[in-house]
Amino acid sequence: MCGVAGYIGGRAAYPLLVEALQRMEYRGYDSAGVAVIQKGRFALRKAPGRVEALSRAVGAGRDTAGTAGIAHTRWATHGAPTEANAHPHLDCSGRVAVIHNGIIENFAQIKKRLAKRHRFRSETDSEVIAHLLEDRWGDDLLAALASLRSTLKGQYAVVAAHAERPDTILMIRSGPPLLVGLGDGETFLASDLAALLPHTPRIVTLEDGDGGWITRTGCALVDRTGRPVRRAVQTIRWEAEKAEKGGHPHYMLKEILEQPETLLAAFTDRLSVQTGEASFSEPGVEQLLAGPIDRVVLAACGTAWHASLVARYWIEDFARLAASAELASELRYARPVLDRRTLVVAVSQSGETADTLACVRLARAKGARILAVVNVQGSTLSREADAAVWMRAGLEIGVAATKTYLAQLAALFLMALRLGRARRTLPPARARQLAREASALSGQVAEAFTLRPEIQRLARRFVRERCANFMFVGRGVNFPTALEGALKLKEITYRHAEGYGAGEMKHGPLALVDPHLGVIAVCMKGEDLYDKTLSNLEEIRTRGARLVVVTNASDFPAAPGDVVLGVKSRNPETSPFVATVPLQLLAYELAAALRCDIDKPRNLAKSVTVE
Ligand code: M6R
Repeated sequence: MCGVAGYIGGRAAYPLLVEALQRMEYRGYDSAGVAVIQKGRFALRKAPGRVEALSRAVGAGRDTAGTAGIAHTRWATHGAPTEANAHPHLDCSGRVAVIHNGIIENFAQIKKRLAKRHRFRSETDSEVIAHLLEDRWGDDLLAALASLRSTLKGQYAVVAAHAERPDTILMIRSGPPLLVGLGDGETFLASDLAALLPHTPRIVTLEDGDGGWITRTGCALVDRTGRPVRRAVQTIRWEAEKAEKGGHPHYMLKEILEQPETLLAAFTDRLSVQTGEASFSEPGVEQLLAGPIDRVVLAACGTAWHASLVARYWIEDFARLAASAELASELRYARPVLDRRTLVVAVSQSGETADTLACVRLARAKGARILAVVNVQGSTLSREADAAVWMRAGLEIGVAATKTYLAQLAALFLMALRLGRARRTLPPARARQLAREASALSGQVAEAFTLRPEIQRLARRFVRERCANFMFVGRGVNFPTALEGALKLKEITYRHAEGYGAGEMKHGPLALVDPHLGVIAVCMKGEDLYDKTLSNLEEIRTRGARLVVVTNASDFPAAPGDVVLGVKSRNPETSPFVATVPLQLLAYELAAALRCDIDKPRNLAKSVTVE
């Protein structure tokens, strides 16, 4: 949430900073702002709304000359998304500019203390940092960093510039990520790799608690105790095409259509169709999975939680291990029973979700072992876990998670298979059959794309009929599929949608059913619960609803008015991979028909670094 960027070098800072904001805009898009150092003062430009609004307001970069500066794209926490609340924030003298990602929990006390001598211009928690630095930014930068560290409580990635010191940009991290890109006579700073890699492959990731500064020639760092530290310089390859839409109108559509490739990447060299064995080459993963485990606790948020819910079924089925999938935002404040024989699996695309990280720290304190399933290499989660399984999904830019959901499912499926084989609870013949099915998934997902014209028609019908409420139902491994379908729809269409276990309908939700409710059911033949689900659907039809059914049954008993979306899936265990795709497409096509902002839905951000 919020993207921060900084630059010092020989080139004009303003266009580079705006480009960095554009590449990180999925982190928040309530307002944007840039401060460039110009002969002892700041050229400060801010605008509510998107980076595009900022660019429009500034025109062709007028009066923004300067080769050092900082920039911010905001997801509002404290204070409405207005120009006054947009970052950068200045101190009273106008010489210190500050940008911040996170929440300063004790800002009210600090503000009260400073208000006697300082003039505040915004309602944000972040502005206190500028005023704190006004008092502290002297020759001793280490002292300035130490005073921030001892005063600020909460989560923060703070970047600050001083108008009279164009050779240094200050930074400190406690929670949200901060990365430095080392160029040739120029240095970059950002929340995300996507903003750095187009300029340099040489990346330094600040560890939690690190602070320091960048200059044209590099960076200097101290750890949380103020001791100088060196952090490794990693060389990371940039796949430029992954950051473009590739001719598609939205990143979300591009990412949905990339899923066959995502699945191939996830299974390649990890799964043997001949033996049914799964294995991981990431350091430490095999040891963790082979260790003494009594129980698996999966912790995640949002879409990653839905993937964890599916994995719970797989782990219990294949490995006969007790497993639960917990919402990280709840687990972190519960008093869970975790010990050395508990494997905690933290699932996160970004690896920066604050609640998921809090669970990892809680689990560690209780002696549990921690396995991360994560997409972003170098993320905090990947570094704090005992071992990490990479999702291999590549860059995902659409705020709505799509290809990373299937990549999470793939990694978790392999993990369950591995546990089942290691514990000898999964017979070789069944393992081989599951592996064969997994290797067919890429093709089955590609085939599901042929449903798109039908789904477009359906979306237009929902718009015509002004359908405002949707219910997604499924059972067993496809109960989470229903939850995920509902989340996708509400997230990008702003229509009300609920996901339910079809067997739960008569315990309350059936009261909502009438001809105006859009009901979408996942009903896969081969599942133990197929006949039971058919009965549940009949109960819904009887109350006047017309159904949309995602099914693999060629003989599905459709009623007049039903829309049947047929998918290929021979195996109930792997059906969530395929059944999810029509639901993603439905959310996408409905959002497109409603002209919603698909890649940047209102009020959301891709990486949730505050709780
Ligand atoms: O980066 P993470 O996987 O930890 O993010 C968790 C959720 O915020 C995320 O899955 C969110 O629910 C998606 N945007 C939904 O599409």
